Amino acid sequence: TELSHIRNFSIIAHIDHGKSTLADRLIQQTGGLTEREMSEQVLDNMDIEKERGITIKAQTVRLNYTARDGETYELSLMDTPGHVDFAYEVSRSLAACEGALLVVDAAQGVEAQTLANVYQSIEHDHEIVPVINKIDLPAAEPEQVRAEIEEVIGIPADEAVLASAKTGEGIEEILEQIVQKIPPPTGDRDAPLKAMLVDSWYDPYLGVVILVRVIDGVLKKGLNIKFMQNGTQHLVDRVGCMRPKIEQLEELGPGEIGFITAQIKEVADTAVGDTITTVKNPAPEALPGYKEVQSVVFCGLFPVDAADFDKLRESIHKLRLNDASFTFEMESSAALGQGFRAGFLGLLHLEIIQERLTREYDLDLITTAPSVVYKLSMTDGTEMELHNPADMPDVVKIAKIEEPWIKATVYVPDDYLGPILKLCQDRRGIQKQLTYVGGRAQLVYELPLNEVVFDFYDRLKSISRGYASFDYEAIGHREGDLVKMNILVNAEPVDALSMIVHRAAAETRGRHMCERLKDLIPRHLFKIPVQAAIGGKVIARETIGAMRKDVTAKCYGGDISRKKKLLEKQKKGKAKMREYGNVSIPQEAFIAALKMG
Ligand code: GTP
Repeated sequence: TELSHIRNFSIIAHIDHGKSTLADRLIQQTGGLTEREMSEQVLDNMDIEKERGITIKAQTVRLNYTARDGETYELSLMDTPGHVDFAYEVSRSLAACEGALLVVDAAQGVEAQTLANVYQSIEHDHEIVPVINKIDLPAAEPEQVRAEIEEVIGIPADEAVLASAKTGEGIEEILEQIVQKIPPPTGDRDAPLKAMLVDSWYDPYLGVVILVRVIDGVLKKGLNIKFMQNGTQHLVDRVGCMRPKIEQLEELGPGEIGFITAQIKEVADTAVGDTITTVKNPAPEALPGYKEVQSVVFCGLFPVDAADFDKLRESIHKLRLNDASFTFEMESSAALGQGFRAGFLGLLHLEIIQERLTREYDLDLITTAPSVVYKLSMTDGTEMELHNPADMPDVVKIAKIEEPWIKATVYVPDDYLGPILKLCQDRRGIQKQLTYVGGRAQLVYELPLNEVVFDFYDRLKSISRGYASFDYEAIGHREGDLVKMNILVNAEPVDALSMIVHRAAAETRGRHMCERLKDLIPRHLFKIPVQAAIGGKVIARETIGAMRKDVTAKCYGGDISRKKKLLEKQKKGKAKMREYGNVSIPQEAFIAALKMG
């Protein structure tokens, strides 16, 4: 296809503003989908995505559109993930396009996520086509939203398309503006091949499928290609595009977006952002912007039933085939047995993996409290990264502990500002900015990531009744007064419950944990102290009173079969108990204690 007839664009929108519905409409209007197929959202193709309404994996569709000028254009719509955890993937998708549709809900207006994405899009020199969606809603205030786009985002919106992805109104105008306003790509067909690896996924029939954007040169079947970052070579065996159904093509030329397969077995063998070139005539340098994936949040994953360990191992390996962005290694815990320590891009990513393991692989899991990555400087001059509180070295050997910080942007209606300021303050936040736009406040805070991973987002949503939006970026590590808090049951530390906390918050956290455990651990024949301690110093304590009677006592003289049953039950319960300083703790107690963060 001639460069002048290609348009590559993505859609940026806040969650629920109608990105997927609009994408489906565009596909339908250009003939890629029938009305019946339209009823299924095609771009979100995983069950979990559908239920959560979140686009996890990027997908791309090629549309042919005959414009009012009589020419037929090849439009590639790049769907981008809508969550901060996947910011790098988003940045690569944006780098593959020349423009973006900015979709804003006519009833909701501009949200934090929208802002963050628009700025990113502008950084990629995109031409932005604003679309005010859901104008069919009674609460729609398109003119107010138009003014807001100009005022808050600072781009002209006088030609913003008023549309409804639901009724189909304005869809043709959107296609027309894509052709007229978004510039065609540039590229050199005769230069050495340079294509960006935008995304990859595992397909049971095709193996690993790679989404690419060709910058220079031509990608063809039979070509020997090389991934410049990891140096591996592959033979291209398929070239094509999605409409959204798969269609094989002869080639992908400069400016084109499409897919290739090359008998690659694992998604982990491909790196998003890598440059693909040919073995014979390689490009002199790779494309800019490549970054290695880095796990931000870690947690332990253990099977509730120890017998399920092999199944867990198998399932984790299978999942990893399709998602190279999470990492894992074996971990063994005295409390929870054999399991894995896994790393994720963020909290949502963690939840998605956890849910897929539970649902798709039918596993009962215990997830330990999420932890961020700490940097330790030791007294002997060495440095280490700490992913697991249980691995914390002796305090006397540590010179300095640094924790990751983030810059958070919260966008919230005025009415909820007070409690949100308090929440940020309670989480050791440093206020950087507070500005008002219309009836809304835009808050910028610097926060320790550690204080955000537990329940910050949930709290934010509940305080603001869902109206606040939240977005963040990492801003590096800073020294903190951090300590490891151990939980001791009958004087013995329980590894799965130790955590790293800020010294000022340790006592409160410790007290909560002890109170919870007091309710969760059954009584024994003796008194059991439950303590929270930093080093040798106890900072909180509860005591579980002694049990007065034998379980079977009330059956004495009674029905013998009932007594047997009780003993049987007790024995079964024991199987899932863990011993700590002579105390049997039911596995459920760990799960419950960990669940509450
Ligand atoms: P994420 O994938 O979570 O980012 O959401 P999204 O932006 O893709 O939103 P989606 O297309 O899933 O739409 C969210 C909700 O808004 C759905 O219930 C849609 O049916 C509805 N919706 C989308 N467009 C319109 C519209 O023009 N009018 C009305 N009334 N509802 C719409």
